[in-house]
Amino acid sequence: MVSKIIRSAYLGSKDYMEPLKGELGGIIDIHDQLALSSIAPIKSLWSINTWHDPKVLTIDSINDGAQQLKKIQRNWCLYSYQFHRRAILIQEKLPHVSAKPLCFPCALPTSPIGSWTLLAENQILASSKCSSLFKNGEILFEENKEGPPSRAYLKLYESLTRAGKIPQPGDFCIDAGGSPGGWAWVLQKLGARVLSIDRSPLDPKIASLANVEYYKADVFSIKPSDYDKVDWLFSDVICFPEKLFDWISLWFESGKCKNFICTIKFQGSPDYSFAKKFLAIEGSHVVHLYNNKHELTFMHIHKNKTGKIEHKTN
Ligand SMILES: C[S@@+](CC[C@H](N)C(=O)[O-])C[C@H]1O[C@@H](n2cnc3c(N)ncnc32)[C@H](O)[C@@H]1O
Repeated sequence: MVSKIIRSAYLGSKDYMEPLKGELGGIIDIHDQLALSSIAPIKSLWSINTWHDPKVLTIDSINDGAQQLKKIQRNWCLYSYQFHRRAILIQEKLPHVSAKPLCFPCALPTSPIGSWTLLAENQILASSKCSSLFKNGEILFEENKEGPPSRAYLKLYESLTRAGKIPQPGDFCIDAGGSPGGWAWVLQKLGARVLSIDRSPLDPKIASLANVEYYKADVFSIKPSDYDKVDWLFSDVICFPEKLFDWISLWFESGKCKNFICTIKFQGSPDYSFAKKFLAIEGSHVVHLYNNKHELTFMHIHKNKTGKIEHKTN
């Protein structure tokens, strides 16, 4: 049983709980991937789903648990770390919520989903306001096993879906650190023109695609003055965050590019606080994607309508 009031809860990725713990205050308890805090929700970089203002519900049966949750709202997702059987029996009494993998490109779902867990046999912790629109923050996509040469394409699927905007046919995209070509494959399929810059070559099947050009170079030798206008700047370069920050700062200062998606990579036990410097760039977001590994994703997306992903109407 918990005596302190829980004001927020954060679901982290299994392998990246340490950086999450490092940024939270008032930690009351950690249950596998779920950290409970006595402090109001913060904008966490490493949480894949933040539970706002969770409530403790005392229940006297499985039925009662389901009834109490249904009274709050329709859509619920279980995070289970103990009493698994009992928790599943409660969840089975709640309305079904589809978790079909998304078919990229598509808009984000519009219905919010709450999260709950069993803190004790007769005690539910439930939040109707969660940061992710996906069950336990897991954004799953229909995978393509033939086209892309690496699984890196999934993090680009996720960041563009979260951004709600995609490159348009003819848009000029720089794909920094693009080898072997997973991101180039995504961008080319959208009809964009891709310039992949890397010291290593692209996979031949990507290099031969229409509208994909490869330039062998150290990315950091490339300057905004080399180009008239860039619609999107993508970077998946393995480098220190400080180096990436200095390089993208040049692009911001030049005003030549409005849309940025860049992974901020970490190695060993780094100082994660540097990532906050990226957040200081006005209008930017820094998130740990479900499909990210030991990295965060920096996004700065221009708010014009061009490229906005619309909801399909049937
Ligand atoms: C994680 S991989 C990129 C995967 C790629 N986004 C994809 O979708 O297939 C990182 C790449 O960064 C490249 N890289 C690292 N430092 C670089 C630099 N200074 N200049 C150019 N490429 C660099 C590496 O050669 C490597 O191919």
